[in-house]
Amino acid sequence: MGEAENVEINEPRAESEIKSKSNVVPVGIKVGSQRTVIAKGNDILIIETCVKEKENPITGEKDYVVGNEAAELYGDEAVYMLRGGLPGNEEEAELLKIFLTRIANEYGIPENTYVTYGIPSTEAEEGVNLFKKVVSQVPLGWAGKEVWNDSFLSALALPEGLGMLDRTFVVINAGSTTTDVVAVRKGEIVFSMVTGEVSGDIVDRWIKNEIMNETRGAVNIDLSTARSYKERYANLKEWKSIQETVQLFDKGLYSFRIDEAVNRPVERYLDSLVDFITLEFLPSLAEFNFKMYKKALESEFIMSGGMAEIPGVKEKFATKLSDALGVTITVRCPESPLTASARGALLISNLRVE
Ligand SMILES: Nc1ncnc2c1ncn2[C@@H]1O[C@H](COP(=O)(O)OP(=O)(O)OP(=O)(O)O)[C@@H](O)[C@H]1O
Ligand SMILES: [Mg+2]
Repeated sequence: MGEAENVEINEPRAESEIKSKSNVVPVGIKVGSQRTVIAKGNDILIIETCVKEKENPITGEKDYVVGNEAAELYGDEAVYMLRGGLPGNEEEAELLKIFLTRIANEYGIPENTYVTYGIPSTEAEEGVNLFKKVVSQVPLGWAGKEVWNDSFLSALALPEGLGMLDRTFVVINAGSTTTDVVAVRKGEIVFSMVTGEVSGDIVDRWIKNEIMNETRGAVNIDLSTARSYKERYANLKEWKSIQETVQLFDKGLYSFRIDEAVNRPVERYLDSLVDFITLEFLPSLAEFNFKMYKKALESEFIMSGGMAEIPGVKEKFATKLSDALGVTITVRCPESPLTASARGALLISNLRVE
């Protein structure tokens, strides 16, 4: 995806079809591999992007449990249908359609909405096309819809808001399955790269292994538990000793130290992120557009995505990146980096509905 420009994905309706523009509800939706975030007015909904297919015990018909309820009831059995924020094939697209339709219904998002969607950078045109097909089929965005790059949108959640459209910066969108790095110049995405080698999911795997080692194999947690440990305890700002106690079948209550098992993987994650930026992203950017590369080094780096929620991650990342590059890099995060893209998307929808 080369540009931040919006992509019109439905034919504009005749004016007469829009009953009253003032009734149109502006909405921003960021669909992520792990979490979908919906911003509407002052409401922010954070919903697990998963579906569990089941059979109705009476009629034998197929039925679905979706979102947070599916995650809570079925854990690792719930299907997260997206990788890198997009469907990869028709089946995943179908699950995404079921998910969005059910979510719209359950959370009372009306059809008469103007929806701005945020999706990740990708080289896979196929995924983007499937995504557009899905959003044209869900009962949302009756007044219109458009799709933007979600890393770009997250920058609009900074206090400058739409003022960011005029700026030059780099966004690092640190998600669950992928990390996107995007160079933006005056509202235009000049260059972007995506990696699956640096991701929140990998940190979860490292945490699981660290806990196995720490407890000499006594505690073997699943990945969703590792993720919740990370979300609860990861903290590079105030590193304090934390004990976790679990119930083991054969040993009864068992305590172990968890702070190191969680924070060490986060440090390692930042090291790989810095490597990705200095050894892959920046050299490729320099090759692609040397002026932009020079400009990027003088610009702000904006960190968003769920991994940027970890206390102290921004500061640690700024230090590590500045050390690696030998220049001082300023790193900023929008408030609540997990929901920033959806809030940026809402700004665009507000603009369209005004
Ligand atoms: N408070 C928190 N502390 C630590 N990690 C967090 C927190 N909140 C979310 N995360 C982590 O951030 C990641 C999810 O980020 P995000 O919602 O931006 O991803 P996504 O957009 O759904 O995924 P992708 O970009 O791969 O499609 C997960 O690894 C999650 O565990
Ligand atoms: Mg993402």
